[in-house]
Amino acid sequence: MKKVALITGITGQDGAYLAEYLLKLGYEVHGIKRRASLFNTDRIDHLYQDPHDENRRLFLHYGDMTDSMNLTRIIQEVQPDEIYNLAAMSHVKVSFDTPEYTANADGIGTLRILEAVRLLGLTEKTRIYQASTSELYGLVQEVPQRESTPFYPRSPYAVAKLYGYWITVNYREAYGMHASNGILFNHESPLRGETFVTRKITRAVAKIALGQQDKLFLGNLSAKRDWGHAKDYVRAMHAILQQPEGSDYVIATGITTTVRDFVKLSFKNVGITVDFKNEGVDEVGVISGIDEVMFIARVGAEYLEASKALIGQEVVRVDPAYFRPTEVELLIGDPTKSKTVLGWEPEYDLEGLCEDMIISDVKLMKKDAFLKEGGYKTLNYFE
Ligand code: NAP
Ligand code: GDD
Repeated sequence: MKKVALITGITGQDGAYLAEYLLKLGYEVHGIKRRASLFNTDRIDHLYQDPHDENRRLFLHYGDMTDSMNLTRIIQEVQPDEIYNLAAMSHVKVSFDTPEYTANADGIGTLRILEAVRLLGLTEKTRIYQASTSELYGLVQEVPQRESTPFYPRSPYAVAKLYGYWITVNYREAYGMHASNGILFNHESPLRGETFVTRKITRAVAKIALGQQDKLFLGNLSAKRDWGHAKDYVRAMHAILQQPEGSDYVIATGITTTVRDFVKLSFKNVGITVDFKNEGVDEVGVISGIDEVMFIARVGAEYLEASKALIGQEVVRVDPAYFRPTEVELLIGDPTKSKTVLGWEPEYDLEGLCEDMIISDVKLMKKDAFLKEGGYKTLNYFE
């Protein structure tokens, strides 16, 4: 029998990778997308199937995490074997601007899913994955962080996710539901949203190498994150729901890196050496050399001459506008439980992740430049 999965947040980074992964495993996949004034399905367009296709296995439903009746109706119609609750207002800094909405979508949204499953009498049938986060550890109480480490959330996002975490545990214990938390540390990819720090960096590095941008402004360069690849992390989500009982798992690489070092690594991936000098808000990143072979391989010989003029240029600066009212300075996870119980192993290390993102962004920025130069027909609305 074909398994049926429902993914909230299917249009996001993780939703897209998970949908593709589950389709490959033979699942029928249903996803909830928000109504938007423009198409918002870019990340899953390659999976789209015509509604008239008799063998269709991907179905999209309009919905929103703040609308209980809508969520309940979709779950009733789909009768999923597995629900992956990935939908969330997922940007930590933005959650300080939209705290009430974040609590509603990320916190109460989780309750809406759990309660719908209970009310519909699906507690025996439907397994639930909750997208919990290393942000729960916040002001870390233990290094590295593991499943038993106490939480200390540091943003409205993390506080909302704290509710999501505990309501999932509570429904598991109160009603015997197969409901699990994946406490995922930061995971990135070429599909990562453009305002998260790794993607902001890889996009800017590609543009600087191609002569399309002068400078990259960042916030806290000393923050440390345990970064993995989203492709590896969605495999863990699936593995969690295949266990005989629901439980909670840390998914992480066990290695932590500063934002500053990720900047250096990204430039290195296009053959550019960047050194940092000064401290605090005066810290800057300056280009000190070009590895021509690497530059040509990753960016192209036609851009090499222009790039040499960049030596000595300041390409990274600190802008305090990107500081957070309360920061999470250090995250590093201990993935022992997921490795031993789930048998989960990541395929990508940080170098592999960064390379994947840089190669993709260089390609994308070349295409963007082509489009800007008139490579497409400009629309004249009034003609
Ligand atoms: P993402 O790229 O920001 O995707 C979030 C998804 O949620 C998008 O599909 C978005 O729709 C949808 N969404 C947002 N608000 C919604 C609402 N009110 N109703 C319905 N859908 C809504 O996030 P991600 O990186 O894939 O992360 C997936 C989940 O894992 C999130 O819950 C995130 O908090 C959590 N998480 C992420 C990481 C990480 O490092 N990536 C680590 C730990 C936990 P639109 O496309 O329309 O915006
Ligand atoms: N976004 C951003 N932009 N972050 C910056 C910048 C900048 O210009 N400069 C420095 N940073 C620092 C942030 O202050 C933070 O310490 C770190 O880079 C990572 O920021 P993000 O990439 O925005 O991710 P995050 O760690 O806050 O949150 C992500 O990971 C969580 C898991 O730990 C999100 O995906 C969350 O949804 C997820 O739960």
